[in-house]
Amino acid sequence: MNYTSIKHFHIACATLSGGLFFLRGIWMLRESAMLKQSWVKLVPQAVDTLLLVSALTMVIWSGQYPFVQNWLTVKILAVIAYIAIGSIALKRGKTKTVRVYAFIAALATFAYIASVAVTKQVLVLG
Ligand code: HEM
Repeated sequence: MNYTSIKHFHIACATLSGGLFFLRGIWMLRESAMLKQSWVKLVPQAVDTLLLVSALTMVIWSGQYPFVQNWLTVKILAVIAYIAIGSIALKRGKTKTVRVYAFIAALATFAYIASVAVTKQVLVLG
């Protein structure tokens, strides 16, 4: 497998991961029992693991390291924030209002991560 294939794989995992998060968020808003199905826990976990493995492979292969490359440092911090805010949205938020705001914030964070990834700029203001 070459670098370009890994990168395409990483982008596919990122898209799928974001899509699955969005779907679970919609189910959370609708208070749907779909959220409780076992595959709804397992599949996103597997996709996120592949997303991370492909990310680490590219970090090593390309020699672009977090805490060396600013955009990667910011990307990792934003991913950590996204995971934390995302888990408030899908389960840890005590009230529906908290979960809804967390869902919106998590989607905005995801969009920021994607734009940092594409532009390799920390501030995406053009
Ligand atoms: C929600 C999580 C993530 C999303 C949405 C995401 C998204 C993306 C996208 C869209 C690209 C392609 C950019 C381009 O077109 O050149 C990319 C590339 C990359 N990502 Fe991620 N990523 C995520 C997590 C991570 C993490 C956690 C790391 C590091 C530990 C990482 C490291 C990289 C690297 C090294 C590249 C390749 C840069 C290059 O050589 O062009 N990604 N990511």
